[in-house]
Amino acid sequence: MPVILGIESSCDETSAAVYADGVMLSNIIANQTIHEAYGGVVPELASRVHQQNIIPAVQQAISNAKVSKNDIDAVAFTRGPGLLGSLLVGVSFAKAFALAQNLPLIEVNHMQAHILAHFIDEPKPTFPFLCLTVSGGHTQIVLVKDFFDMEVIGHTQDDAAGEAMDKTSKILGLPYPGGPLIDKHARLGNPKAYQFPEPQIPGYNFSFSGLKTSILYFIQKNEAATPGFVQNNLADICASVEHRIVTILLNKLSKAALDLGIKDIALAGGVSANTGLRQGLQELGAKHGWNTFIPRMEYCTDNAAMIAVAGYYKFLKNDFTDQHVAPLARMPF
Ligand code: KG4
Ligand code: ZN
Repeated sequence: MPVILGIESSCDETSAAVYADGVMLSNIIANQTIHEAYGGVVPELASRVHQQNIIPAVQQAISNAKVSKNDIDAVAFTRGPGLLGSLLVGVSFAKAFALAQNLPLIEVNHMQAHILAHFIDEPKPTFPFLCLTVSGGHTQIVLVKDFFDMEVIGHTQDDAAGEAMDKTSKILGLPYPGGPLIDKHARLGNPKAYQFPEPQIPGYNFSFSGLKTSILYFIQKNEAATPGFVQNNLADICASVEHRIVTILLNKLSKAALDLGIKDIALAGGVSANTGLRQGLQELGAKHGWNTFIPRMEYCTDNAAMIAVAGYYKFLKNDFTDQHVAPLARMPF
C-alpha cells in the first residue's frame, strides 16, 4: 500500500498528513489566529503565514507518522478551490518536495476531499450517497456516485451556510470565526425563542442573504427599543439563528434524499462541526431509517487528512499530475 503525504493550504489552515495502509498516521493542522483582529480572513496575511507554517507542519506530520521522507510514495495537494495566494504556497511546496524526492504528484479538489473524508474511518458510506457539504465558502448537496464521480444537485445562490453563521455573529458583536461561538451560545438558549423566515427557493438550492438581512433588522429594531437586548438574550438569539440555518439545510437535504430514494446520507465541511446540525441529521436519520455519516471533528474543518485519503484513491487509479500544474481559485468538480 502506498504512503501518501497530503498538503492543504486553501484558506487559513496549513495542514499536512500522512496516510498509509488504510490508516491516517498523522494530521497536523496549524491554525492562523492572526485574522481574528480583522473580523475575517485577510488573503495576503494568510499566504504569509502559510509560508512560515508549511515546512514545520510537514516535518511534524512525517515525524508523528513515524516514517521517513524516503518512505513517501506520492504527494497529494489541494489544487483548488480557495484563495490563490494560499493555494500557491501548498502547490509550490508539493511540487518542490516531489521534484526533490522524485515522486508523483496528485492534485485534489478541496470540496471533493471534504466528502472523501468519510473514507478515512469505518463505517464508510456506500455509493451512491448524498452529502451536504457546508463550509465558509460553499453550501452544496452532492450526489456522490463514485470516488471522483460527483454531481452538485443543489447549491447556494448567494451566501454559504458558514458565511451566514459568521456574518450573524459579526452582527451580534462576536469575534471571527463566529460559527463555533454561535454553536457554543446556542447550547444554552431556546431555539424557538425567535422565528426567522425560511426562504422559498426552488429545487435543492439555498439562499441565506435574506436571512442575514432579517437578522440585522431584527437586532437593530430590538436594540433601539431595548438597549442591551443582544447581550441579555444572546443564547436565545444564537439558538434561534442556528435552528433556522439547520432547518433550511436539513429540509432541502431530506427533500433530495426522499426524491432520489437514497438512504446513505453524509455531512461534510466546517459547518458539519455544528452541534445542532449533527443532532438534527441524526434525528432525521432515525426517523427515515437512513445510515447517517458525520465526520469526526478534526475532519470537519480544513485538514490535510482528507487530501491524503483523496490522493490515495487517485493513486490507485494512476491519476497523477505533472510539474506544470497551477492552483485554481475556482475549481468545479
Ligand atoms: O470547511 P471550513 O473549515 O473552511 C472552508 O473551506 O470554508 O469551514 C469554515 C466554516 C466557517 O464559516 C466557520 O464559522 C464554520 O465553518 N464552522 C462552524 C462551526 N465550526 C466551524 N459553524 C457552526 N458551528 C460550528 N461548530
Ligand atoms: Zn473547506
